[in-house]
Amino acid sequence: MFGWLRKDKRGSKSQKVKRIGLTDHRILHDRTVSLGSSVTHLDPSDQPASSCMKEISTTAAFKHLETILHQTLPSCALERSPIPLCPSIELALLQAELPQTPLPDDEMRQVLASPAYWCFCWASGQVLAQYLLAHPERVAGKSIIDFGAGSGVVGIAAMLAGAREVLAVDLDPAALAACAVNAAINDVQLTLAPDLNAIQTPIDLIIAADVLYDRDNLHFLDALPTLATDVLIADSRIKNFNHRHYRLLQTQTATTWPDLEEYPEYNQVRLFEHTRSS
Ligand SMILES: C[S@@+](CC[C@H](N)C(=O)[O-])C[C@H]1O[C@@H](n2cnc3c(N)ncnc32)[C@H](O)[C@@H]1O
Repeated sequence: MFGWLRKDKRGSKSQKVKRIGLTDHRILHDRTVSLGSSVTHLDPSDQPASSCMKEISTTAAFKHLETILHQTLPSCALERSPIPLCPSIELALLQAELPQTPLPDDEMRQVLASPAYWCFCWASGQVLAQYLLAHPERVAGKSIIDFGAGSGVVGIAAMLAGAREVLAVDLDPAALAACAVNAAINDVQLTLAPDLNAIQTPIDLIIAADVLYDRDNLHFLDALPTLATDVLIADSRIKNFNHRHYRLLQTQTATTWPDLEEYPEYNQVRLFEHTRSS
């Protein structure tokens, strides 16, 4: 299932992918959602007063997110889904049951040009979210950046575990829209930003899950520790992750949800830590 949205060159078996000559998925994303300013604050005073009104606005935002999905995947739907490793977190994700037929060529091109990573909860995201929920002392009272937030799963876990503030950073405007919807579903606040330039306050911790699939992001391994006291990175894409300033905390098996049926090696998630003292 979902073979058409495999995450990298090695993972892609699709003849269609080969036919259009796609060598990897480092493709600029469509600016499909306008956020108006570089940082969007989800102010609780903007929320409708009654829980009934709040439910209605969350439903409307969910529908809007689905229209964004339809720009690349018109035949797919979103559904609210608890994520397997952290069932207390529910996300708007791609519907698990999909037609098994291959995508039409034009749809395939759209998907590859603008992959909707945000409609999956990646294996690394699940592992890091689970870790934060199990170790609230890592985030409690802290100011945090979720770098490459996607659905926002890791930032949401940090907020649920007691973080003071989470800035969800993603270059894909659709991902930021997904973060907003998923924050509302889980009744937490996230601040949204398209890049790290928006940082104005001291940051205690940067959390990042599954962002190293794009080798252009490797320089962030050195850049992120200059922006925060601690960095936690979850990754299953770099085979020999060997950075002298990062310490392996744990290795865990996990599967992207909904299941992309990725190669087993991509289900081996390693969690690394960088602290100023290391
Ligand atoms: C594979 S998804 C992972 C999402 C989420 N962290 C998770 O684990 O489910 C990677 C996300 O990182 C974002 N991303 C990749 N490179 C980025 C960069 N340089 N700056 C900001 N976001 C980036 C992508 O747009 C995408 O939403």
